Amino acid sequence: MHKSNPIGVFDSGYGGLTILKSIKKSLPDYDYLYLGDNARAPYGDRSFELVYQYTLDAVKFLFNQGCSLVIVACNTSSAKALRSIQQKDLEKLSPNKRVLGVIRPCIEEIAENKEINSVGIIGTLGTVSSNSYGLEIEKYAPKVNYVQHACPLWVPLIENEKQESNSGKEIIKNDLSILLQKSPKIDTLVLACTHYPILYPILRSFLPKSIAVMSQGPIVAKKLVEYLNKHPEIDEACSKNSTTLFMTSEKETVFNQVAGKIMNSSINAKSVSF
Ligand code: DGL
Repeated sequence: MHKSNPIGVFDSGYGGLTILKSIKKSLPDYDYLYLGDNARAPYGDRSFELVYQYTLDAVKFLFNQGCSLVIVACNTSSAKALRSIQQKDLEKLSPNKRVLGVIRPCIEEIAENKEINSVGIIGTLGTVSSNSYGLEIEKYAPKVNYVQHACPLWVPLIENEKQESNSGKEIIKNDLSILLQKSPKIDTLVLACTHYPILYPILRSFLPKSIAVMSQGPIVAKKLVEYLNKHPEIDEACSKNSTTLFMTSEKETVFNQVAGKIMNSSINAKSVSF
C-alpha cells in the first residue's frame, strides 16, 4: 500500500473547493484531503475565539490524518486564526508541519501587478471587520487604494444553493452597488472569500467590463508551487499518488451532491466529527 501524506485543504464549507480545484490543476500528482466544516458554516459572523477554536480543531484533525501541510482555504479562518496557529500552536503540535493561508498570496499578487491601482474587497463580516486585507495592502502595496464591503448573506446563499434565485441575485447586485458607490474608481474586485468564485458568472453579469475579478484559486496555486520548490523538505513529506479524499462535518449525501457540482466530478465523502 502507498503511504499517504496528503495536502490538507480546509474550509468552513464548500468555498475551499474553489482553491482545491486550482491547486489540483497545478499539482496533479499530489494527494489531497479536503475537509469542510459544513455543519458549522458559515464562520463569517462568528467570534474570533470560535473561529480560532474550530480552525485549530480542523488543523489538528488533518495532522492526525497524516497531512504535513495544511492550506487554510478560508479567508475568515486565515484572518482570525492563522497567525496564532502558526506562531503559537504549531511549535507544540508538530514543529515540522506547516499551515498556510490564502490572504498573503493575494496581497503579494496585488503588490506585484502594476495594473492594479484601486481594489474593491468583498468578504465575510469576519474578514472585512478584521481589516486583514487593509493592513496588509497598506504595508505591502501602499500605492493601491482600497475600499471594503462585507457581504454576510453570500456564504449562506451558496451553502444552501440559493444564489441563482431572484432574491439571491438581488442581494448580490445590491452588495456590489454598495461597494461601487464607495469608490467608482475600482479596477479590480478582490473575491476575499473562497466561496465567491462560485458566483463568478453572476458577479460578471452585474459588473462593468472595465473591472477585473480576482479569484484566489489560481493565485494560491501559483504560490504553493513556488513554496514547495523553496521548501523541498515539505515537498518530500507530501505523498504523490494523485488521490483526493473528501471529509465533511455534514451528512455525506448533501455534501456529495453540492461539492460534486462545484468539482464537476462524482464525490464520495466521509462524514466526520472533529
Ligand atoms: N470560504 C470562507 C472564507 O473564505 C467563508 C467563511 C464563512 O464560512 O463564512 O471566508
